[in-house]
Amino acid sequence: MQLTLTRCEVRSWRATDADALARYANNRNIWINLRDAFPHPYSKRDAHEFLKSITTRAAETLFAIAVEGEAVGGIGFVLHPDVERVSAEIGYWLAEPFWGRGIVSEALAAVTAYAIRTHGLTRVYAVPFAWNAASCRVLEKAGYVIEGRLRKSAIKDGKLTDQLQYAYIAP
Ligand SMILES: CC(C)(COP(=O)(O)OP(=O)(O)OC[C@H]1O[C@@H](n2cnc3c(N)ncnc32)[C@H](O)[C@@H]1OP(=O)(O)O)[C@@H](O)C(=O)NCCC(=O)NCCS
Repeated sequence: MQLTLTRCEVRSWRATDADALARYANNRNIWINLRDAFPHPYSKRDAHEFLKSITTRAAETLFAIAVEGEAVGGIGFVLHPDVERVSAEIGYWLAEPFWGRGIVSEALAAVTAYAIRTHGLTRVYAVPFAWNAASCRVLEKAGYVIEGRLRKSAIKDGKLTDQLQYAYIAP
């Protein structure tokens, strides 16, 4: 998969992304805003395991965000089974040196549209931690609308937090 955008490219992960992935993902400022399944510290072995694991998935739903060919972040969605098969949860992260350039806002809008057209979805949603103002802004810029506050719904780094539920409804 490859989406060529103005500020970045969203593309399939490659085995050769391991070095960049391990270097950029090993950052507490990224980990603190993600699920605990995202390792910290993030080692070279974690990068290789991740890149190997995605090759065995039924559908390709996890992608690299690349700038000048280098993988500098990740974006992907989780498809749901049964009655929620029209919905997917989306998530993303970007290497800290690239923050604030509009990269994820652009990638998020493009991958949302891709997920909807490829999988026939009606809804894509995200649940950032309430403290994550940058992520909320990115979601709003990509056309997501806040639907609610999930009070005390998560614990991260030993701290209970609310999550905010944002969704994009297919036109
Ligand atoms: C959140 C994240 C993905 C944003 O990526 P990015 O490419 O820097 O985002 P963009 O440049 O497209 O947009 C960021 C917006 O947030 C705003 N912003 C940044 N920090 C902010 C803050 N502390 N408070 C309010 N707004 C903030 C920026 O001003 C910008 O909005 P603007 O264009 O209206 O000025 C990136 O910071 C990241 O990877 N964070 C760690 C992982 C993470 O939080 N993932 C999401 C989990 S839900």
